[in-house]
Amino acid sequence: MKDIKEAVSKRKTFAIISHPDAGKTTITERLLFYSGAIRQAGTVKGKKTGKFAKSDWMAIEKQRGISVTSSVMQVDYDGFQVNIVDTPGHEDFSEDTYRTLMAVDSAVMVIDSAKGIEPQTKKLFEVCARRGIPIFTFINKMDRDGREPLDLVSELEDVLGISAYPMNWPMGMGKSFLGLYDLHNYRVELNHPEEADGHDFLPLDEEGEVVGDYPFKQTSVYTQAMEDATLLNEAGNVFDEEAIRKGQLTPVFFGSALTGFGVQTFLDAFVDYAPSPSSHKTEEGGIIEPDDERFTGFIFKIQANMNPAHRDRIAFVRICSGEFEPGMSVTLNRTGKSIKLSHTTQFMADSREQVDNAVAGDIIGLYDTGNFQIGDTIYSGKEALAFEPLPQFTPEIFNRVAAKNVMKQKSFHKGIEQLMQEGAIQLYKTYHTNEYILGAVGQLQFEVFQFRMKHEYNAEVMLTPMGSRIARWIDPEQLDPKMSSGRNLLTKDRFDQPVFLFENQFALQWFVDKHPDVKLSQLF
Ligand code: G4P
Repeated sequence: MKDIKEAVSKRKTFAIISHPDAGKTTITERLLFYSGAIRQAGTVKGKKTGKFAKSDWMAIEKQRGISVTSSVMQVDYDGFQVNIVDTPGHEDFSEDTYRTLMAVDSAVMVIDSAKGIEPQTKKLFEVCARRGIPIFTFINKMDRDGREPLDLVSELEDVLGISAYPMNWPMGMGKSFLGLYDLHNYRVELNHPEEADGHDFLPLDEEGEVVGDYPFKQTSVYTQAMEDATLLNEAGNVFDEEAIRKGQLTPVFFGSALTGFGVQTFLDAFVDYAPSPSSHKTEEGGIIEPDDERFTGFIFKIQANMNPAHRDRIAFVRICSGEFEPGMSVTLNRTGKSIKLSHTTQFMADSREQVDNAVAGDIIGLYDTGNFQIGDTIYSGKEALAFEPLPQFTPEIFNRVAAKNVMKQKSFHKGIEQLMQEGAIQLYKTYHTNEYILGAVGQLQFEVFQFRMKHEYNAEVMLTPMGSRIARWIDPEQLDPKMSSGRNLLTKDRFDQPVFLFENQFALQWFVDKHPDVKLSQLF
């Protein structure tokens, strides 16, 4: 048992949240490079191809010829086993992206220094914040001219509503990027862009001055950074590990993923302060500790193969406790069926395919022939158990849907019902006329839905876009159907709960002003 505890304490399972192009792929590649998984960093381009956009990591896989199965990567870094879970970007943004955040213990937020907080970062951040998981911020692209660092940090606090603690402070940017003034480690990290990954650490004296004579000490870039950092240290937030762990304070780092400068400093602090796997709550209010001897886990994602010739799917399991052993038998809580876990896969463990051993925090892939659904719990032993259900997320884009061929109504309904249960799409109906409306958080979900309806259920569908809507639930007791208008369509969700789809923020505000006593709510 001591071994499991020890192994779990070395796990760091996280996701990178960022807006497309902020540098997620580049920083992931740096991590692979420092961990020795790849020999050269800086040549992979995260360009997407094909109708169903693949993860950027697929590009890494192709170029490197290594066994990266998109979605999860596992590498050793500084004695830790680091599990990175992918959060797909623009075209493939979907509810899966949000659910992925339910399977990690912390998040790294990458921000482009020229752009600041962008919409996708904000959305992903909010999901992490609601879970209260620690968030580590990396402000990227300091090798280019960007916005003022003080500005970026205050934007972080204002827009996201989280306290920030700069772990280091940039001395200049772009061409005059001298390096990082690092009050946390009490040193200056000098940038030598002419050398590959070039950096030097210089100690500080009691006054916070770099020890020794260096010409850069006369520059305004240095003195300004030193003043800013000292001021922040005195007047800003205090470093508080507990607050970091609770997701109330984000440590902020600066650097350049492209040149690699500052990335290692960031990763070293990350593995030090990011939490190892902790306990999970069960539906009955129990707690499962990661070193519990029962093997337990839940399925947070199912990746269906888009190739219609192969119906194979991979169910991604986040292990919550115990130890996985190949060939072990587990019970699937939803059906009570016993399943032997013989056909499993792990992701990029030096090209090993079969999982030999895995513990809490690890993510394994089960080849699935249709047994599993998102949110399923699996466990070993006799005592039944189910983890808290995964949350549903408030959809933002809507389409009306109908069967192309009226003769195919049966397969149309069956397909919709199953795909809805699987969590691929959310189904709503207009309140009185029961017309079908589909809701999703990303456009790709509709395309996948259409494709799967055709190929798996032989039902061609017609989708009529309704665009973005703001969905808000209303207590049925407070509902008056007359509240509905052209700007706020009244619908019901799959549990027959009333939901308004507001045309935009103005329509929502207008409603709130008109009905101040009505309580509106949203999903997770
Ligand atoms: P993503 O996964 O978050 O979408 O971003 P990705 O890492 O693919 O980076 C997006 C673009 O930003 C890439 O350029 C990449 O080279 C660049 N980039 C990433 N980190 C840095 C950085 O620290 N500094 C600078 N200057 N650029 C950075 P691209 O236009 O897609 O390719 P390329 O033609 O520039 O190579």
